[in-house]
Amino acid sequence: MTLVIKGQTLSFAPDGSVVHETRGAVVAGDDGSILWCGPQPLLPQAFRQAETDDHGSMLVLPGLIDAHIHFPQYRMLAAPAKDLLDWLSRFTFPEESRYADARHADAAAQLFLNRLFSHGTTAALAFCSVHKACAHSLFAAAEKHGMALVTGKTMMDRNAIPAVQDDPESAARDSEDLYRTWHGKGRLRYAVTPRFAITSTDAQLRVAGELLATLPGALMQTHLSESPGEIELVRQLFPWAKDYTDVYDRFGLLGRRSLFAHGIHLSERECERLSESGSTVVHCPTSNTFLGSGLMSMPHLSKPGRPVGIGIATDVGGGTSYSMLATMGEAYKVQMLAGYKPSAVELFSLATRGNADRLGMGDDTGALDLGKFADLVVLDPMATPVLASRQEVSTSLEDVLFSLMMLGDDRAVAATYVRGRRVHKRVTA
Ligand code: GUN
Ligand code: ZN
Repeated sequence: MTLVIKGQTLSFAPDGSVVHETRGAVVAGDDGSILWCGPQPLLPQAFRQAETDDHGSMLVLPGLIDAHIHFPQYRMLAAPAKDLLDWLSRFTFPEESRYADARHADAAAQLFLNRLFSHGTTAALAFCSVHKACAHSLFAAAEKHGMALVTGKTMMDRNAIPAVQDDPESAARDSEDLYRTWHGKGRLRYAVTPRFAITSTDAQLRVAGELLATLPGALMQTHLSESPGEIELVRQLFPWAKDYTDVYDRFGLLGRRSLFAHGIHLSERECERLSESGSTVVHCPTSNTFLGSGLMSMPHLSKPGRPVGIGIATDVGGGTSYSMLATMGEAYKVQMLAGYKPSAVELFSLATRGNADRLGMGDDTGALDLGKFADLVVLDPMATPVLASRQEVSTSLEDVLFSLMMLGDDRAVAATYVRGRRVHKRVTA
């Protein structure tokens, strides 16, 4: 079925400009791809009788993309702990142990995806638990929605409770099985997922490197340089390594298909290696402040001569919001503390086209371009009394976007479309 979605359309171009139509339309075809996008007066005759969702003056933009989120932590947000390692052992590992149960994982997967949609997120790179069943559940739920989702079974064979540990052999076997079953099915892809250096032995990190080298098109996701206590423990566990990044480097885990969450305390040498290998560091601002991990600096990472590619993500449940709007708002504040003032357009571009490119799905989603899938979010700049009065003094599109990321959350998400189908509609009182 062809669907015409009308509103104030905007999309973020690679050169930093915004393609904006105050009365725009996006046409999604039978297969969910964008057949046409432009000003409503120029809508081709062929689409004028098609079913239409008219969102008036609300903003219709590419769906937000979360470049790092933990599915089995979907209900354990806001768990206060001393630091990352305390939080993992007291709250996270026990909660993730529930996902050995396929029925629990199946029910949670549907809830999790609905939560992403209600927050305007249409694609993600997600961690699962160590259990194969958990990844099966999430892949199956995402497939039903025709969603672009990358995930993998977490690999972790030490320094955790037995209920969330595997071993190098079973990790290799389960990861390969999941890759063969799901990778390339619809818009799904596999990510080799060693949790972080602390919970994998050398033998398991070697397996992760072999998987990344031998599974075509697979991504790799892990955590890097998040908290001071974590970095010190990595130093003790890998005395031969130059630094934290070197641990992953020695096992072949750096590269264009590799995404490292956090990257807060990276040295010059580490940034150089991440830059020359084409790796991505994913900024998780609400998690970094909530767990007291530190303030990631975008200007430090982006330093000319050795720029490290950057993504942006919620990191739920270390992160405190599912909303990529709230996440951009917190990124703005953290970057201000680092002496850098990003624009709203820059952060929206990062959360759409930027994350799509970093997740290797730039041909598929992240912009309102012909042939890409119609993954869309409809944002209401008047969603709350505070937002509505803020718009009385907004003087530009940048201003409206800025107010949405600073003051908005799921209340500002009027509707969400995945592959041209509406998957969420806000219920207004
Ligand atoms: N490092 C290792 N595992 C995790 C996790 O689940 N969340 C965060 N924020 N950091 C981690
Ligand atoms: Zn994480």
